[in-house]
Amino acid sequence: MRIIIDDNEITVEAAGTERHDIASPEAFAILSEAWMRSSWANRHSYTFSWLGRPVIQLPSDLLRLQELVWQQRPDVIIETGVAHGGSLVFLAGLCRLIGHGRVVGVDIDIRPHNRKAIEAHALADLITLIEGDSAAPGTVDRVRTSIGGPANVLVILDSNHGKSHVRAELEAYAPMVRPGGHVVVADGNMAGLVGLPGARDDWSWNNPAAALTEFLAANSEFERASPPVAFNEGGVAEGPTYWPGGYIRRVR
Ligand SMILES: C[S@@+](CC[C@H](N)C(=O)[O-])C[C@H]1O[C@@H](n2cnc3c(N)ncnc32)[C@H](O)[C@@H]1O
Repeated sequence: MRIIIDDNEITVEAAGTERHDIASPEAFAILSEAWMRSSWANRHSYTFSWLGRPVIQLPSDLLRLQELVWQQRPDVIIETGVAHGGSLVFLAGLCRLIGHGRVVGVDIDIRPHNRKAIEAHALADLITLIEGDSAAPGTVDRVRTSIGGPANVLVILDSNHGKSHVRAELEAYAPMVRPGGHVVVADGNMAGLVGLPGARDDWSWNNPAAALTEFLAANSEFERASPPVAFNEGGVAEGPTYWPGGYIRRVR
């Protein structure tokens, strides 16, 4: 797609010629997609931290997630994919502010310096770390044991983004969510990154969004959900995101 931007309008030249005023929702969607690709190629999400720990997310994705935590008041938030621990600290901080809930982080490789920093953090008492392949039955059992019993669980999947791994995670962790609860799958944007430096061609099919589509087709107790938008005096709520279509809800 060729995008031309001038002072007052955006012109899109692709199949045929379409012109959208820069103030239109269509122009915003096109620019958001282009910004998503450019920001990813420039590793923009690797420039943020939360209360001292690097967090590899877009701030807008975290802000939407925050609203879900506020609305759901989960007893336990399970997140696969810890890395430096920034997203765990973000979620634990929300639990502290809300006065309810705690966080379980699962990663196949918790580097000693990251573990040390997470365990020394002011929010460490709300964080449990479990090291292991998040799709391995033994790891899933340890997470289940950590939850302890019936609980309002929120699941966030942000580890290995291969389709088969995310599908296996969905089968393992989604059943831990109660009716009305949510699973959030990160990085459903991967198919849109193909062709960029650092992106692989197989991301066109081998990605979390494809796993989610398969999972929903096989599990009718879950349906797609919108990212939580509790306030909108703007109009277009969907802006740049790395998690398009990433929210699902258990309906029964
Ligand atoms: C994108 S990073 C997580 C970013 C983190 N959630 C944040 O927001 O800062 C992905 C993490 O998944 C972990 N990972 C990769 N394969 C995994 C697997 N099979 N099981 C569990 N974790 C895995 C990696 O070690 C890495 O730390």
